Amino acid sequence: MLPSPGPDVYGTVTVVERLSCTPGVGHRSGARPAGLLSVNKAHNLICSSRWWARSVEQDVLPWGLSSVDLGDDVLEIGPGFGATTRVLARRPGRLSVLELERHYCERLRRELGDGVDVVEGDATQMPFPDGRFSAAVCFTMLHHVPSPQLQDRVLAEVLRVLRPGGVFAGTDSFDGGLVFKLIHIGDTLAPLDPRTLPDRLQAAGFRHPKVDTSSRRTFRFRAFKPH
Ligand SMILES: C[S@@+](CC[C@H](N)C(=O)[O-])C[C@H]1O[C@@H](n2cnc3c(N)ncnc32)[C@H](O)[C@@H]1O
Repeated sequence: MLPSPGPDVYGTVTVVERLSCTPGVGHRSGARPAGLLSVNKAHNLICSSRWWARSVEQDVLPWGLSSVDLGDDVLEIGPGFGATTRVLARRPGRLSVLELERHYCERLRRELGDGVDVVEGDATQMPFPDGRFSAAVCFTMLHHVPSPQLQDRVLAEVLRVLRPGGVFAGTDSFDGGLVFKLIHIGDTLAPLDPRTLPDRLQAAGFRHPKVDTSSRRTFRFRAFKPH
């Protein structure tokens, strides 16, 4: 039995964030509709909590990255408040993060200083050269990308920016029980189906895709760019 990461509280993430990564629909920090702010506050509260930081450190990352060799130049996509980033930053080697939302980027730069290269940008059009990274990771991020087409664009972009042999790994939640559905009422959450993810990774050009689910409706994935 695989160890189970904690519940995906990021599943409660706001409509604002998902809309913001839809080309032509999005709005950046400072231009949010007032009616959505209360949801956003609740989300921020959870995502910046010590509880989530502990879950990430003790469950999500150890499970998601078990036996994965990240190498010397890692890209994290969608760091948000940086709970995952803070743990990744302890590793030796270079760490860059790509985040859509400016206010998260500013916060991460203040907190992490020069140790992490914080880049504001969209994972469907990454501002990085081909073949740069030894690994790319993302945690509870892919379901924020609002359609399978855009998600597949993220997969294609990850493949492009990885070195030959580089690994793409991470975790996410998948659609499941009533509670999961209830906490997403009114938002545009686009959960991935772990059963179809291996084929999607293969179609993007990855090799040896592997996806495992846990008892808590989360999954981990890993796949490699061909040599
Ligand atoms: C739920 S947070 C996850 C934060 C962090 N990985 C964690 O687990 O604590 C997802 C993040 O992905 C970012 N995101 C969503 N779509 C994105 C895109 N197209 N490009 C870059 N970042 C994106 C959101 O702004 C948000 O900060």
